[in-house]
Amino acid sequence: MKLLILNGPNLNLLGKREPTIYGSESFEAYFKTLQDKYTAIELSYFQSNIEGELIDKLHEVGFSFDGIILNAAAYTHTSVGIADAVKAIETPVIEVHISNVHAREEFRHTSFIAPNVKGIIAGFGLKSYELAIQSFL
Ligand code: DQA
Repeated sequence: MKLLILNGPNLNLLGKREPTIYGSESFEAYFKTLQDKYTAIELSYFQSNIEGELIDKLHEVGFSFDGIILNAAAYTHTSVGIADAVKAIETPVIEVHISNVHAREEFRHTSFIAPNVKGIIAGFGLKSYELAIQSFL
């Protein structure tokens, strides 16, 4: 099974960025623990701060992978382009958020992506990604 974790803007700073909200572990370290635990899955990871690169990656894997775990970060709340890409591809997408976006500012309550995804997991810290992996098993 081939799964991609796709992270959007500012998530390269996990571990350093607002640790009270996003925790103190880097995504690279967390990703390694996931790879060690889920050895039967071909797990890949891509992060970009650039909207078009995230769209390109969705197009690249979206007709061959078994699942995409997408944390579009701030683009969740703004990007028609990413929402359209999620709709355009065949691979099922799970939307994840580290924080509980619904317990935060009003603008984080809107997701352009949500209508086009299989499901949404939010608020479990980095564990949100693992729960998304498990949803594909
Ligand atoms: C986030 C929540 C978004 O509102 C925010 O812009 C992020 C991270 C999360 O994982 O909790 O960058 O997607």
